[in-house]
Amino acid sequence: MTSTPGPSLSERYHAATIYTHEAVQKATRLDFDAQPSPFKTWYQARRVELRGGPSDGGAPEPGRLDAERLGRLLYHTYGVTLVREFPGMSMCFRASPSAGGLYPTELYVAVRGIDGIPDGILDYHAPDHSLVICWEGDFWRDLARYTFDHPAMDRARAVLIGTGVYQRSAWRYRDRAYRRVLLDTGHVFGNAVLAAPSMGQRTVPIPHFVDEGINSLLLLDPEQESTLLLAALVDEVDVPAEGGTSLRSAAERSVDEPDEGAWIPLVHGAGNLAAEEVAGDGPVVDRGPAAREAPVTLNAEPLAGGQAVLDTIRRRRSTRRFQAAPMTLGAVGRLLAHAYPNGATPEAEAPIEPGLVDTYLVVSAVTGLRVGVYRYRPGAHELELVRAGNPRSALYECCLRQQLGFDCAFAVVHTFDLSAAVERLGDRAYRSAHLEAGLVGQRLNVAALQLGFGASGIGGFFDDCVNSLIGLGPRHAVAYITTIGVPE
Ligand SMILES: Cc1cc2nc3c(=O)[nH]c(=O)nc-3n(C[C@H](O)[C@H](O)[C@H](O)COP(=O)(O)O)c2cc1C
Repeated sequence: MTSTPGPSLSERYHAATIYTHEAVQKATRLDFDAQPSPFKTWYQARRVELRGGPSDGGAPEPGRLDAERLGRLLYHTYGVTLVREFPGMSMCFRASPSAGGLYPTELYVAVRGIDGIPDGILDYHAPDHSLVICWEGDFWRDLARYTFDHPAMDRARAVLIGTGVYQRSAWRYRDRAYRRVLLDTGHVFGNAVLAAPSMGQRTVPIPHFVDEGINSLLLLDPEQESTLLLAALVDEVDVPAEGGTSLRSAAERSVDEPDEGAWIPLVHGAGNLAAEEVAGDGPVVDRGPAAREAPVTLNAEPLAGGQAVLDTIRRRRSTRRFQAAPMTLGAVGRLLAHAYPNGATPEAEAPIEPGLVDTYLVVSAVTGLRVGVYRYRPGAHELELVRAGNPRSALYECCLRQQLGFDCAFAVVHTFDLSAAVERLGDRAYRSAHLEAGLVGQRLNVAALQLGFGASGIGGFFDDCVNSLIGLGPRHAVAYITTIGVPE
């Protein structure tokens, strides 16, 4: 007799952290005295001051990566773009949005052969737009080995390394923080991908790496902080045709359920890759409800690149209120074409995990499009109606009754078939899906702003409510919602 394997750790984590009415009501009061700083303190460390920051607006000529281009790229990835004073404190807002403004992502950069910056691993210190020299030396051989000799590694002279400092977000969101830490980090890398071409650079995401190796290079304590995503910065003329190989981690099905508050390092660790991982193969993926009508083909007119993107990132803020006003179908098409640039970029710049994440549009007010729920097919740049009817009130409920959910013109919902994903990729699928949803979320944010609209991520939603709004069964996990509309 064969026994059916139990659910993986990521499936159990997901179930343990869904928002229900009871879970949300149970939320405890925040202890502001215990809130961690969003910035690291490095004692007696040497720093490299960077150019290309807040007071240095113009785009440099596109060209080879140098200290100035790297500075500008870091600023438009995760720099401080607004300081707001509150009674007794000032708060730094960054180029990238963050759930609750908690900024759990820490951004390191490994460098070799860039004049003015020593070879080594440095931490981006956003408040004064500098790099803190953490470890000087040549780490490239180790980095290449730990990234399974990704084809971009021998061409790159800088590698972004994004880690998650869990407690910055867990302080408020407890175990569910892990999802937001991943989404936030996806947004940070989304900026890096968007900003790089204006400098003649490309950001090539490297989601597959030997976790223990990279964590130990950075001397991280994986209970507190772990590496989430890497990306090589490659001169545009030098981008390899090929991406890295997609690898599977184990699927952890045997460990005991941790205590509340102890999930994050455990579920993250379950997705770690060891040096001898193998490529994943594909089980049957449930792609959600059937289409009810012929698809709608969308407008694909591209948005401006270059300086326009940098300007948008610098002035970007999450929309706090929408007018309940419609957008046009033409604008929706352009926005999606910008966020999912299929075919327009080399294979090496593919999303985190091709074919993993599904995209739905919950449409409340788009002229030229019936209200309802649509599946977006990026390859064909088409929308397929899967559910007719006005979703406005249901979406509002799903978004924990946040007004943004009621007033937006539409929301983009990223989902994935969690059990098939774990079967194919092991527990690492969980982080890949959330990183990708965050990365695309930032592309949506920037595109919306470039077109004169507004956007806000929504990390707080009733999971089951979103599943039933779209018509998805329990195998499907909702990773993220981005609301888009006409700002007030
Ligand atoms: C993953 C993620 C989840 C978010 N969830 C919400 C949300 O549920 N409700 C909301 O009003 N804003 C949400 N936001 C927006 C943040 O509140 C906002 O980014 C933060 O306050 C910083 O402000 P800024 O984006 O204007 O710089 C989210 C942002 C991210 C990246």
